[in-house]
Amino acid sequence: MTKRTCLSLVLAAGEGTRMKSARPKVMQEVAGRAMIGHVLDVARAAGSDRMALVVGPDIGEVAEAARREFGEMSVFTQQDRLGTAHAVLTARAALEDAADDVLVLYGDTPLIRPDTLRRIRETLAHGADLVILGFRAADPTGYGRLIADDRGAVVAIREERDASAEERTIVLCNSGVMGFRGALLPALLEEIGNDNAKKEFYLTDAVALARAKQLSVAFVECAEEEVLGVNSRAELARVEAVCQQRLRHRALEAGVTMTAPETVFLSYDTEFGPDVKIEPNVVFGPGVTARAGATIRAFSHIEAAEIGEGATVGPFARLRPGARIGARARVGNFVEIKASDIGPGAKVNHLTYVGDATVGAHANIGAGTITCNYDGYNKHRTVIGAGAFIGSNTALVAPVTVGKGAYVGSGSVITKDVEDDALALERTEQIVRPGWAARLREKVGGKKSGNKKT
Ligand code: UD1
Ligand code: CA
Repeated sequence: MTKRTCLSLVLAAGEGTRMKSARPKVMQEVAGRAMIGHVLDVARAAGSDRMALVVGPDIGEVAEAARREFGEMSVFTQQDRLGTAHAVLTARAALEDAADDVLVLYGDTPLIRPDTLRRIRETLAHGADLVILGFRAADPTGYGRLIADDRGAVVAIREERDASAEERTIVLCNSGVMGFRGALLPALLEEIGNDNAKKEFYLTDAVALARAKQLSVAFVECAEEEVLGVNSRAELARVEAVCQQRLRHRALEAGVTMTAPETVFLSYDTEFGPDVKIEPNVVFGPGVTARAGATIRAFSHIEAAEIGEGATVGPFARLRPGARIGARARVGNFVEIKASDIGPGAKVNHLTYVGDATVGAHANIGAGTITCNYDGYNKHRTVIGAGAFIGSNTALVAPVTVGKGAYVGSGSVITKDVEDDALALERTEQIVRPGWAARLREKVGGKKSGNKKT
């Protein structure tokens, strides 16, 4: 069988007023990725060779974001929001190329699975002219109902507002996702009118029209969870929760240990090697890779960072974009690392900020070390050589280099380069006055003092 072509058309012209946001609704993120990105990704995974978008006026941002991630695609602007059929017809130029399969998807329904779209395409490949994706709703209120004849074939979709009381008891609902034999479009949609409660051009009317033309209408069922749409922040949170569950499950299946998976938050692209261990309450922003055997301890926050094999991060560590932690390196509590390479086996164990730095293999960075990378105007780099030892409470004023195997005495403010194997010390000499404290006590006698003997 020759490969069937597929156009996925994503409707995203909704205003999303209930989100109360300055951003277009489909740009809201789920697991660190805009909803539109999730939908396009699934469309691609289901084998679409072309994707197109319908957006509302003033939301060019959506087109830009989609193209950045998925390459060139046709984007159509729906000036007036006259209904889902009207939205699809806005993309007429894309439809006229007549792909074998045309899938209509919603930009605000990001949990749909590639397998479900593949099932729709298979049904089209088996000769269906129109395929509805249906689901059984726990509460069908608001959805279009699938009206079946006595043999169980779907003959129409009735929108809630146009449905009779009896029809409203139907729990089999329209998800909104539909598949069409491409050659039928746009002619079929042009016959759709707006004689209904909302005075909108309903894509769902295509079903009764297709039946009247003796075309074959089929339906595929999926879980309600897959077709949860986002219209409000509460629904966004619900969709996020489902997405997190899936991502945790995927991580566990890939060989990650999580003591309390329900407290670990992942991004759509978080990548784990085998035997990674994650303690409770860890947040992964986008762009994180943790390699085999890495341990991420409790309460760490990690984004756009790489954690090497067998490395340990946390508890209470923060890895910001561009942090690359080498194999078996250790990053401990209250340590923040940004745009820095930490070499294999290096240790940055306590209360430290490392930014814009390169730390060599097996270097040891003492507690309270700060790379002073910003002078108020520009960022500068710090280079710490392999095996160097930075004493506690050191300030490294960048740009500065500490050579291989060098020592920096604790409490130093290092402003000049330190050569390999040298000792750098920058502090005033210690003064010790024997008996001084005792004499003070004598002088001020039993008077109030913070140093009273008890
Ligand atoms: C639609 C379906 C309904 C289904 C429900 C599932 C129709 C007539 N009804 O209803 O059967 O149960 O989805 O959630 O199709 N959009 C545009 N331009 C428009 C109108 C809508 O781009 O002019 C987009 C929206 O951004 C949204 C999607 O189409 O992503 C659905 O539109 P919406 O108005 O939410 O449809 P519902 O009334 O929920
Ligand atoms: Ca909706």
